[in-house]
Amino acid sequence: MKLWGGRFENQTEKAAFDFQSSIHVDRRLYREDILGSIAHAKTLNRCGVLTEDETSKVEKALNELLQDIEDGKVQIGMDHEDIHTFVESTLTERIGDLGKKIHTGRSRNDQVATDFRLYLGREVDNIVALLKKLEETLLKLAESNLDTIISGYTHMQKAQPLTLGHYFMAYFEMFRRDIERLMDAKKRIMIMPLGSGALAGTTFDLDREYTCSLLGFNDITYNSLDGVSDRDFTIELVSGLSIIMMHLSRFCEELILWSTSEFSYVEMDDGYSTGSSIMPQKKNPDMAELIRGKTGRVYGSNMTLLTMMKSLPLAYNKDMQEDKEAVFDAIDTVKACLEVFDGMIRTMRFNRDRMYEASEDGYTNATDLADYLVRKGVPFRETHEISGQIVQYGIKEKKKLSELTLDELKGFSELIDEDIYGEISVETCVSKRNLIGGPSREAVMKSTQRGKDFLKK
Ligand code: ARG
Repeated sequence: MKLWGGRFENQTEKAAFDFQSSIHVDRRLYREDILGSIAHAKTLNRCGVLTEDETSKVEKALNELLQDIEDGKVQIGMDHEDIHTFVESTLTERIGDLGKKIHTGRSRNDQVATDFRLYLGREVDNIVALLKKLEETLLKLAESNLDTIISGYTHMQKAQPLTLGHYFMAYFEMFRRDIERLMDAKKRIMIMPLGSGALAGTTFDLDREYTCSLLGFNDITYNSLDGVSDRDFTIELVSGLSIIMMHLSRFCEELILWSTSEFSYVEMDDGYSTGSSIMPQKKNPDMAELIRGKTGRVYGSNMTLLTMMKSLPLAYNKDMQEDKEAVFDAIDTVKACLEVFDGMIRTMRFNRDRMYEASEDGYTNATDLADYLVRKGVPFRETHEISGQIVQYGIKEKKKLSELTLDELKGFSELIDEDIYGEISVETCVSKRNLIGGPSREAVMKSTQRGKDFLKK
């Protein structure tokens, strides 16, 4: 079925028709296409194109169609060119010639942009809800690990002691920014292009602000050429989704590493692990690996959209039909990843003893030894040197800093006293870092409180 036969003498080749048709992808927009058509019918009524009676017939028939699709009574046939063709021709089948009036003052170009934006506005809300659920999980995990000591790393080398709670709150911050980014992108998604026509608006006096309020958009577009040809909003959204995946992939990478027998910091629940068909002992963190792997897919969609739009002259070009597949795939991927990731970390078990032991290795308290001497009046650059020499001595003697005797320590600085042992315990290293944004119990409790306030609003 197509809407444009008049000027053609011959039929479209089947392969060509199938190639350009998009119904297999844009069928997802049926709800938005129907709601958009109802709003358009009401606007046509306002400017005298449809009578009151015609408008209510159209509205009733479109609502019934929506219900029938949702109840599975009507299948969206793949023989239609796209969802807009399907809705219009089904409407005409149902109410006869009146259906043929619905496309007055409208083009599929402004129609598809409108449908797509409406759909994406809804999906942003769904993704934000999943992100918020993940944030709740992270807050719980942080709160139950305020005193779980773990080594922090830089360059993947042991650096300074932290708490696991602090670790989780780092990811909380990343996903908080992701939520803000999506909410911000939504402001520009929820702008209504309807009324832009094919490219030059329409001769009918459509009250675009009225249509806008019916559909729940924030505003209308203010240039008809831009209205039909802007796809910035998809690039912005999928960039935001790419950043979410980037964050998830970092977290996954870390958890994969932490589940190795070498680290043994965490163990995934059986419900979120898989085995090997040949090696009976295996328990693999497949969920985390797959999420890490799927990151590439979302980046791919982002690149698809950027490249698709590059150099496209105004206004609508069929190239732009490729936008939906990329965006839908990115949305589906991110939603599936967020869902599984949340379940995976909720059920994960921690080997706190192992984390603690590991935090005591690797001279993670060397900075604190330097800071101790600073408090005794020695400039930091010197205390750094002294602490470095003690570390070198410890490595040779195969002893931790806390295992060196006071005499050994005094050999490096007379200023070191008995109190040094308390000052360089990993507990002290953490509790003394009590400034805003630090890893101490109180500092992390303040960030979980800030996190809760964020989720409330
Ligand atoms: N299926 C098209 C798309 O997704 C709808 C707009 C088609 N417009 C046209 N003049 N062929 O972009």
